[in-house]
Amino acid sequence: MASLFLRHTFAKRCAVVTGGGSGIGKAIAHDLVSLGCSIVIASRKKERLLQTVAELEQVAAPTARIRHFVCNIREQEEVRGLMGYAVDELGGLDLLVNNAGGQFPSPAHKISAKGWGAVIDTNLTGTFLCCREAFDAGMGKRGGSIVNIIADMFNGFPGMAHTGAARAAVENLTKTLALEWAEAGIRVNAVAPGIIYSSTAASNYPPGFLEGMATDVPAQRLGSPEDVSAAVCFLLSPGAGYISGATLRVDGASSLYRRPGFTIPQHTKL
Ligand code: ADE
Repeated sequence: MASLFLRHTFAKRCAVVTGGGSGIGKAIAHDLVSLGCSIVIASRKKERLLQTVAELEQVAAPTARIRHFVCNIREQEEVRGLMGYAVDELGGLDLLVNNAGGQFPSPAHKISAKGWGAVIDTNLTGTFLCCREAFDAGMGKRGGSIVNIIADMFNGFPGMAHTGAARAAVENLTKTLALEWAEAGIRVNAVAPGIIYSSTAASNYPPGFLEGMATDVPAQRLGSPEDVSAAVCFLLSPGAGYISGATLRVDGASSLYRRPGFTIPQHTKL
């Protein structure tokens, strides 16, 4: 997909993208480096990061420097290491995309305390730690822009209670930080993707299941990682200079319609 941005939109800017080795994070990293941004991509999987760095080198604008850092965002010392590394290697930190996250499908009554805690730790606490450590590593002095990737959980998230709760909390965190950090020159926004098709996402479902959800989406198609990346790049860019504390839904209007793939079975219990 052609970019709406200019080749120098992010020249002289330095970014960290968590979960940058695959899927939506990789698409964001791809756009940022092709628009001149220097970047550290982070994830727990070194091999995937190395592979993605090699791919990014092929599309990067001349100003872009590309680094990777293995990091578990649940661990505050590792997150501190990531942000310190970005500042040391790139000379500063202007942009943060909190994209790393994870969950598993389960009815709410079958989620163990351990499973619940793990999803909250990754999606909520991990995002908070990344924001706080980016602030402390220099964004608090220099200003910047943060985008938190959440999810379409606005009307509840059946089958994903843990991540729905965590993502709703991140949306609220986004608003709080937009207020507290305005005086530091930091904008904080969220992007809420709907059903996004990628080969990795499709491999988590029976064949054709994900594709079949498109009939429940007003746009009558699934989103792509590039659809999400365009919104993230907009919010990171100077074009969004007066936008903070906002959530941009990238879902083909599905959050206004019905939850793709979910129906309530016939019953007489209520
Ligand atoms: N992606 C999914 N879970 C993660 C974690 N804990 N740290 C970094 N990236 C992740």
